[in-house]
Amino acid sequence: MNTTALRDEADYAAVLANQFDAVVAENAMKFGPIHPEPDRYDFTGADAVVEAGEANGQVVRGHTLVWHQQLPAWLEGADLSREEAIAILRDHIATVVGRYRGRIAQWDVVNEALPDSGSGLRDTPWLRWIGPDYLDLAFQFAHEADPDALLFYNDYDPANTGEKSDRIFDLVAAMQARGVPIHGVGLQFHVYVPVDRAAVDAQIQRARDLGLRYAMTEVDVALPLPVTDALLHQQSVQMGTLLAACVAEPATCTTFVLWGFTDRHSWIPSFLPGLGAATPLDERLAPKPAWQALRHALDPDEPAPVAPLDEVPTLPPSVPGPVTPSTEPAPAVPLPGAPAYTG
Ligand code: XIL
Repeated sequence: MNTTALRDEADYAAVLANQFDAVVAENAMKFGPIHPEPDRYDFTGADAVVEAGEANGQVVRGHTLVWHQQLPAWLEGADLSREEAIAILRDHIATVVGRYRGRIAQWDVVNEALPDSGSGLRDTPWLRWIGPDYLDLAFQFAHEADPDALLFYNDYDPANTGEKSDRIFDLVAAMQARGVPIHGVGLQFHVYVPVDRAAVDAQIQRARDLGLRYAMTEVDVALPLPVTDALLHQQSVQMGTLLAACVAEPATCTTFVLWGFTDRHSWIPSFLPGLGAATPLDERLAPKPAWQALRHALDPDEPAPVAPLDEVPTLPPSVPGPVTPSTEPAPAVPLPGAPAYTG
C-alpha cells in the first residue's frame, strides 16, 4: 500500500478495499519513516494503513522492523556500542509492535540479512553494532511486544529458488533450533528470471517440514519497456505459477502479497530504469493478463489468460491477397535477462 495514493486517489483506495483481504505498507512502517528522530516516532502513515485494513476487514502485515536500508538519518552511519544499539532496537520494536499489538497479524521482523553470495550474514549496520545475534534479539523483542503476532524472516533470492534460498532456510532453521520465536519465512519474489514451479514447491515443503509458515511477500514481475502481448502473457504465467503453488499448500503458504497492485505505483521503474509494468493492473487500474492468471489460480472456474496469437507478418507490398493469421499460440518468450535487485 502506497499511503499517499491511499489518501489522494479514490480509485486506488477502492480497488484496495474491494479486491484484497490483506494489506501491507510499502514504506510507512520502515525504520526511517516511522522513527525519524531518536525520541520521536511518526505513526501517520502506519496508522492509515492499519485503519484502512481494519475498516476493510483485512489482515494487516507489518513490514519491516530491522533492515539495512531506509534507516533514519540519526542512525545512518552512527557509531554505536553493542549495548546502545540493543537498547535502540528494543525500544523501537517494543514501541512499534506494541502500538499495534493484536492488530498486526504478521511482522517481517528482519529483512534481507543475507548476502547474495558467500556465507555468513550481510554486512549491515545492525551486524556491525550488535553482532550476529541481532536477529535473535529482534525476534525476541517482537515476541515480547505481541505474543500473538506471527513473526517472519523475509529475504529475496535473485534466482528465485537458487542457492541463496537454501541459505535462507538454513538461517531460519538454525534460529528455530536455538528456540527463537520465529513462525515463518517470507520470500520476496521480485521476479526477473522465470519461476520454476518444482523449486517453489520444494521450498514450501521445506517450510512445512520445519513447521514454519511460508509467505510470498513482494511479488512483482518486471518487464522490459515497452511491453508486448507476449511479455504480458509471460508475466501472467509467472504470477499465476507462484500463486498456484501457494494455493496448493494452504496450511503452509498463508500469505501472498503483491509489491504494488497497479503499474501507476510500482517501485520498479525508478529502481530499474527500462523495466516496469510489473504489477497485475495497468496504470488505469484495468486488469492485465496477470490479473486474470491470479484469479484463475484462486478459482479454477475463472478462465486462464489466453496466449497471444502470432503477430501477423508484415508482407511486402508485392504479395497479393488476404493473410490468414495463425491460430497457433505464440511460443513462450523467456523473460529477458535483466539487472536484478541487489538489496
Ligand atoms: C521498496 C519500496 O517499494 C520503495 O518505494 C522504496 O523506495 C524502497 O523500498 N525489498 C523490500 C522492500 O523488502 O521494502 C522494498 O521496497 C523493495 C525490495
